[in-house]
Amino acid sequence: MLKSKWFFGLVLLLVLGMFFVGGCGNGADLPGEVVDENGEDVQPEDGDEIVITVAAGAVGMELELTRAQAERYNAANEGVRVEVLDTPDMVDDRLGLYLQFFEAQSSEVDVYQIDVIWPGDLAEHFVDLNQYGAGAVTGEHFPAIVENNTVDGKLVGIPWFTDAGLLYYRTDLLEKYDLAVPQTWDELEEYAQIIQDGERADGNPDFQGFVWQGNSYEGLTCNALEWLASNDGGSVVSPEGVITVNNPNAIEIVEKAAGWVGTISPAGVTTFAEEDARAVWHAGNAAFMRNWPYAYATSMADDSAVKDLFDVSALPAGKSGAGAATLGGWQLAVSAYSEHPEEAADVALFMASYDEQKERAIVGTMIPTIMSLYEDADVMAAHAWFESLYDVFINAVARPSTATAPQYSAVSELFYRAVHDVLTGSKNGADAFEELELDLIDLTGLDAE
Ligand code: GLC
Repeated sequence: MLKSKWFFGLVLLLVLGMFFVGGCGNGADLPGEVVDENGEDVQPEDGDEIVITVAAGAVGMELELTRAQAERYNAANEGVRVEVLDTPDMVDDRLGLYLQFFEAQSSEVDVYQIDVIWPGDLAEHFVDLNQYGAGAVTGEHFPAIVENNTVDGKLVGIPWFTDAGLLYYRTDLLEKYDLAVPQTWDELEEYAQIIQDGERADGNPDFQGFVWQGNSYEGLTCNALEWLASNDGGSVVSPEGVITVNNPNAIEIVEKAAGWVGTISPAGVTTFAEEDARAVWHAGNAAFMRNWPYAYATSMADDSAVKDLFDVSALPAGKSGAGAATLGGWQLAVSAYSEHPEEAADVALFMASYDEQKERAIVGTMIPTIMSLYEDADVMAAHAWFESLYDVFINAVARPSTATAPQYSAVSELFYRAVHDVLTGSKNGADAFEELELDLIDLTGLDAE
């Protein structure tokens, strides 16, 4: 009774509001602007509309891209309002935040942006999107990602964008020093040194040959997995669940990378995450950078010193003869603790839909998971490199998250800590990986090769 009276009052206010607002402009541009009989603003009370909170990344342009999506959804959907909660840049910190929400079974966040490595570890905290209509669209996405996101038949997340490690290089500097795009790590070392020496001699003491992600966190797992895979050094734990990391090729390439620290890379690279590497590159102070595709769009921005002076390619090869990219990427998952799972799923499916992925691909170089977008004329006209690097995206090497679920995060932490010890010189490669092997056996109970 009370409720219906309250509702009637609200409708009246809304009608009055439209009347007043209509007199001084276009009421349709002012959603939520409601005035009372005195012409005072009245904010809608909780309960007038359903608020769906999306926890999302803020690396590079991500936050503005996601906010723009929320605005598009809000404009087209009365009664539901999407809000974006930004989350820490470093994946491990983001996971820590999410775990706090899950621990509390909090309904505060409805939709989570989740990493490609998390479905196996976190499945219990999300609804099955197949029960909310995702089945109609999963066939449009790369099957391997859908499979990755499916845990015991449950679709834990709808693919949003995929990622693969790339080599960014300065076209102007390769030309200046008459060098080609490096095909091997040996070439990269050589060319980075030549350009670094030359640029420093030319008056830029801050110039670096090669920047990448060497901090002790998930990003280092990604970089190091690329080194290992490019050198026939395996992927830490094989898809069959065998611990393979303690092998000579893996040790050799990690020691090679340790040799970059303080030579072609700044000593501080062992504290770098994606955005730290990008800052050096963006300022025009690096010849080469390892980073994800998002850095392409930011490097083309007006405030970038490298705008139109760079290109991207596959990462260099080691012993295996081919470069390797780590598979990254993000999905949208609906919390099992959401009070509005149906609306939340609708938001997630909207945000991961064709038109939305297209917009993010063109504006933000977020790599689509919908296959037909690679044939979309607008996308290809904006970024022809999506096509030339298509093989890199679809052949990217997966981290051992399925083989080690639900312990992947702990496995990765042992791995990146061991690699970090080698990079900082506190252990040699052989000792670090021998200890790592024992720690992984203890943690997972899996056998070593
Ligand atoms: C990127 C990748 C993600 C990875 C992270 C590591 O965001 O998409 O999969 O875990 O980088 O820093």
